[in-house]
Formats: sequence, structure tokens, C-alpha cells
Amino acid sequence: MTVLIRLSSPEDAGAIARIAADAKVAAIEAESPRVRKILGEGRTYVAINDDDVIGFVDGFFTRDEIGRRRYELDLLAVAREAQGLGLGTRLTAEFLAAAAEGGAQHARALVRAENAAMRKLCQRLGFHCSRASYALFVGERQSPQGLAPENDARLLSVDTLGYAGVWLEGRLSQESIDAAHRLASQRNAAVIGAAIPSKALAAAALLRANSFRKVGCYHWWTINL
Ligand SMILES: CC(C)(COP(=O)(O)OP(=O)(O)OC[C@H]1O[C@@H](n2cnc3c(N)ncnc32)[C@H](O)[C@@H]1OP(=O)(O)O)[C@@H](O)C(=O)NCCC(=O)NCCS
Repeated sequence: MTVLIRLSSPEDAGAIARIAADAKVAAIEAESPRVRKILGEGRTYVAINDDDVIGFVDGFFTRDEIGRRRYELDLLAVAREAQGLGLGTRLTAEFLAAAAEGGAQHARALVRAENAAMRKLCQRLGFHCSRASYALFVGERQSPQGLAPENDARLLSVDTLGYAGVWLEGRLSQESIDAAHRLASQRNAAVIGAAIPSKALAAAALLRANSFRKVGCYHWWTINL
């Protein structure tokens, strides 16, 4: 099988959405102007065999807590029949090279603890796995009332192929959750996500009290570029 890796175009949306749905990594709305815009931005790579898209990887830049440019590996999937042939590794290597070229100092991926293939792939490419595990919580944006209170949160506004959202990092408090809802409202983002240490039971209780639901158990995999 001869496979070419290239940047995506909006016309790849249907195939990417099908692969993502089959791999159960994300529900991507192929007709959405938001998705089609992302696919034309030069940040998503596709693997092509005989003119067919058989895999893709997508991610974006954020800043870490000390302001360094960071690349987030957000979505990666290979069509079932093409898995285990090295394509996931090739797509990710291409993605990391582009991240480094774009000035990222490091990259990271939040990987489900039980995802053996993704863990092996990260290991093979030189990522390091966090010692701690993290619980990923997701909530839907609400419309908070009143002024923004003081808080220690780090709010990252993100535009992924699956959703527009806000990631809530740093010290979690009712004020920081309210601030995340406020930013999500301003940005018309639907989803708020927070990955907290699995041992942080008080933070988990606070998120649950705010109608967040736990999606699963993950590790951060990081690599310096
Ligand atoms: C994760 C995924 C992208 C890997 O792509 P791939 O093309 O199959 O990966 P590669 O062929 O490059 O193999 C990477 C490593 O995973 C291993 N691997 C592949 N499939 C595996 C499986 N089902 N179980 C365990 N290990 C597996 C390979 O042996 C290889 O390990 P090695 O370096 O020790 O040989 C692919 O399995 C996939 O699409 N999974 C579903 C979606 C997903 O989980 N995405 C990641 C989270 S967003």
C-alpha cells in the first residue's frame, strides 16, 4: 500500500467525519462551515491511499502556564482496515514536525488510560507519560449571571474538529467554573472541559455539582520539540 500524507482540504470533511465516527473519537459535522474552515487552515493532515482518505490527525496551538507555545494533539484516527501499518505513527510524526516548525516548544496529548495502540504510538515517538492519571470532565455551557469574579483559572479557548469549547486549567473553584461559562458564552462555544488529577476528589465533586460528567481516565503524554 502506497500512502501519501498531505494537508487536508474542506473536501476531505466527509471522509474524516466517517473515520472519526467509526473510531469513536469524535462526532464531526462534515457540513459545518466551522469544520470546513478548520480543514482549510493547514493544521490537519490526512493519509491518502488511491485518492481515499484513510486517516487523519488534527491539533492546534495553545500557551502553557508560563506562556510557552504548545501544540495540542487533539484528534488522531486511522481507518480500521489500515490500522497497525504505521500510519498513525507517520501522521503524528508529520504533525510534530509541523508543530516544531510553527514554533511550538512542546506538544501534548490526553490519552485514555486503556488506549493501548495510542500509548504505544506515543512511546515509540518519544512522548513521556504523566505519572498521575487525570479524570476528564465535560460540561455544557450555561449562561452565568453577573460580573466575572476574581479567580485563578487558566481558560483556553479551543476550536476542535468536534466542538468549539473552553478548557479549564489551573486551580478549580466555583469562580473559575463561572468564568469558563462566561468565556464560552462570549465565544459561542458549546463545551467546557477540565482534566483534573484523578485523586482530586473535592474538585471532581465541584464539577459534578456544576453538571459536568466524567468521560474517563486519561494520562497526559508530553514531548519537547
Ligand atoms: C491509535 C491509532 C491512531 C494508531 O494508528 P495505527 O496506524 O494503527 O498505529 P501504528 O500502526 O502507527 O502503530 C502504533 C503502535 O500501536 C500498536 N498497535 C496498533 N494497533 C494496536 C492495537 N489494536 N492494540 C495494541 N497495539 C496496537 C502498534 O503495534 C504500534 O506499536 P509498536 O510501535 O510497538 O509496534 C489507531 O489505532 C486508531 O485510529 N485508533 C482509534 C482512534 C484512537 O484511539 N485515536 C487516538 C485517540 S484521539
